[in-house]
Amino acid sequence: MIKKMLALAVLMLAPLAAQKFEGLAPTPPMGWNTWNTFQGKISETLIKEAADALIANGMQAAGYKYVVVDDGWEAPERDAAGNLVPDPERFPHGMKALGDYLHAKGFKFGIHNCAGTKTCAGLPGGRGHEFQDALSYASWGVDYLKYDWCNHGTANSQETYNTMRDAIRAAGRPIVFSLCEWGDTKPWTWAKDTGHLWRTTGDIMDCYDCQGAYSLGWKFILDIEADLAQYAGPDHWNDPDMLEVGNAGQTPAESRAHFTLWAMLAAPLMAGNDPRKMSDDTRRILTDGEVLAINQDGLGKQATRFMKHPGKQIWAKELSNGEWAVCFFNDSDETVRLRIDWSSLTFLKGTYRVRDVWGKKDIGKTDVGFEAGLPGHDVILVRLRPSS
Ligand code: GLA
Repeated sequence: MIKKMLALAVLMLAPLAAQKFEGLAPTPPMGWNTWNTFQGKISETLIKEAADALIANGMQAAGYKYVVVDDGWEAPERDAAGNLVPDPERFPHGMKALGDYLHAKGFKFGIHNCAGTKTCAGLPGGRGHEFQDALSYASWGVDYLKYDWCNHGTANSQETYNTMRDAIRAAGRPIVFSLCEWGDTKPWTWAKDTGHLWRTTGDIMDCYDCQGAYSLGWKFILDIEADLAQYAGPDHWNDPDMLEVGNAGQTPAESRAHFTLWAMLAAPLMAGNDPRKMSDDTRRILTDGEVLAINQDGLGKQATRFMKHPGKQIWAKELSNGEWAVCFFNDSDETVRLRIDWSSLTFLKGTYRVRDVWGKKDIGKTDVGFEAGLPGHDVILVRLRPSS
């Protein structure tokens, strides 16, 4: 008997294999992040103003709940004990106070750091300090950690991100773990048990189809996502990077199309505009309940590309209850004439009622074809419901 009890006690003390905190992202996380508009020019004042604006303009009510402080919040050095320190001028009250402010306003608190020795902005990175840093994040009330990949040297990605995952686990506070490894080592093939989302590409640029050395317009990101649908699902999402909706490099049609396609991709929706100066058009796009419902559908499927012809792409996302979202996207610069014979969409079974999501109207059933003009870089989004 005593032997048995001893064996049981040993079993209970044996370290469990560390794992991510399960169930924190059953649908794609939604929020706002400082980087796309502000880069390193951030402060606690800006973040509080942004949070207040997200409440005033309806973004929070629409579901944007994570406020994520990206690169630039740190002081240039750790303290004598090796702890991360916020920049004393721009974050004079410290990160715990900022987290408290956000929580009191109903948000979740996100923060950025890097798996390398330094962040991309040259501030202290997490390498070698993972367990210590996770304790800091937990003590500040952090709910979401975006973990970057600059200055990683010869580090192995899976090992490095698993170390941070284990550190978060050991610190004991449930934190959504967002891998920002840019798709370098195909995290979709290994990160399901490591984090809740992983970047699939280099950085998004505020444009439709421009390209930098390392960054790219959303049209190119979209092409990369086309092969990745099978890897996404509840609690483990492909992240095609944050939104540029409402930013200067997008026409209104491009903002709408970018948002629609990210919704179709079951992408995490992190707004990247200045919420204090949001036009009505931008607000209408980002808070559209019908589009958000497609993104947040509980089945958690990422859309696949059913067809790609010049000027005519068709994306299809299976939804709960036998419903489908279908997005027609004109990737050319000219208006095209769409003629849809629903029976050619071979994934459909039977007849459906058709809802034009952006047009805000029901447009009949799939037993009658559908025809419309579609301007360049724009989309038509329909939701199909089985018709009894
Ligand atoms: C990388 C990331 C970006 C942003 C910057 C911050 O480029 O991919 O999303 O976090 O670092 O320096």
